[in-house]
Amino acid sequence: MSNPASPPAVGVLDERPGLTFPPGFLWGAATAAYQIEGAAAEDGRTPSIWDTFSHTDGRVVAGHTGDVACDHYHRLGGDVALMAELGLKSYRFSVSWPRVQPGGAGAANPQGLDFYRRLVDELLAHGIEPWLTLYHWDLPQPLEDAGGWPARDTAARFADYTTLVADALGDRVRYWTTLNEPWCSAFLGYGSGAHAPGRSNGADAVRAGHHLMLGHGLAVQALRAARPGAEVGVTVNLYPVDPASDAPGDADAARRIDALANRFFLDPLLRGSYPEDLVADLSAVTDFDHVHDGDLATISTPLDLVGVNYYSRHVVAAPVEGAEPEPYWRAPSCWPGSEDVRFVTRGFPVTDMNWEIDAPGLVETLRRVHDEYTDLPLYVTENGSAFVDTVVDGEVDDVDRLAYFDAHLRAAHEAINAGVPLRGYFAWSLMDNFEWAWGYTKRFGMIHVDYDTQVRTPKSSARWYASVIRRNGLAA
Ligand code: NOJ
Repeated sequence: MSNPASPPAVGVLDERPGLTFPPGFLWGAATAAYQIEGAAAEDGRTPSIWDTFSHTDGRVVAGHTGDVACDHYHRLGGDVALMAELGLKSYRFSVSWPRVQPGGAGAANPQGLDFYRRLVDELLAHGIEPWLTLYHWDLPQPLEDAGGWPARDTAARFADYTTLVADALGDRVRYWTTLNEPWCSAFLGYGSGAHAPGRSNGADAVRAGHHLMLGHGLAVQALRAARPGAEVGVTVNLYPVDPASDAPGDADAARRIDALANRFFLDPLLRGSYPEDLVADLSAVTDFDHVHDGDLATISTPLDLVGVNYYSRHVVAAPVEGAEPEPYWRAPSCWPGSEDVRFVTRGFPVTDMNWEIDAPGLVETLRRVHDEYTDLPLYVTENGSAFVDTVVDGEVDDVDRLAYFDAHLRAAHEAINAGVPLRGYFAWSLMDNFEWAWGYTKRFGMIHVDYDTQVRTPKSSARWYASVIRRNGLAA
């Protein structure tokens, strides 16, 4: 894992060669229920941990909530029409657990399921392949009150919910992912507390990570039982982790952060074991007594595909006394057992999230999953960037976002050339939406949303992406 010496060129589009992707490449865009739906208290939906969290003072920037969001619940038809205009081959969305199983237990809510049936039917009517994520962070609040993901029973509850969704939608949905980014649910939700439910305890974060993966394994088995023909996978957020220098202390810092960010999930899911060095690093935090006999076999139940979300790279160094702790996902409490590692910035161009733009990291990430873990088909289930957008005469010329996509699609193509079985790419996001603890202050969409009027305006990147899909590649 090398640390590129100079920033990757972004923004120089016209000097690059054209590229064609393999036939049938699945071009898509992604969203998630709580980030776009709104209708938080309609048709039987009950609160999730994100409703509680966003309604708690000081948790989300400017007190924003997902109560209304993009009002997608009421604008499904128009939104699918926009997807069709883009020419999307697939749309990745998530099902809101508390909408289809209020309270997280018991019978399904027919009105909740009906919304997703209508969405899926509308997609199919437009020739768009539905890609369903079962868990994109909206745990029903009563399950959190009963212990949340650090509690083992939550995994079993997730499997029950999965059966209920598979029974209702399995006849029309082919692609399923169980979890979205379990690292975030575990380490932002229960480690740093930057995300719902906002708890901060290293051992709980580690337990949450395990029970999320156990829930995933049980959900895969439930899906297989209900729908033998389904294509089933999981989505993990991965980062290359580089040492800031050749110093042994920096190399060890990179090893430790790689264990917590990447191998914590990849090893159990795809190899059926926890990395030994991770277990040793965490020895002061937990003795892993939450791992029962048979869990790792369940967690590593064979899959049909692996989803990778890629945004940036971590560069880390050994601790220095008196160094300022970093905010958010670099907060020490995200990294139990490695709280003293320093995250280093390299001066690369950054997005509005302050994430360094590093397209070569996508090639490295995909190659690593393929070379070290699996021959399964891979999909980039998310990749994208937040930038400050301005609407000028009804247009949003988001050249930075467009350049970000261009650079990362070139990286995806390079990975394919290197032999990675990459079968699809989903832009994050279809439209601007509720960016979790940042509320509506960060815009990731290819389609601009005016939150006062709910007017949607495709940005330059959307028109460009439509042309990419049309030609199945990038123009010269
Ligand atoms: C990861 C998450 O899956 C998604 O919900 C989020 O909005 C994007 N990355 C951007 O942070």
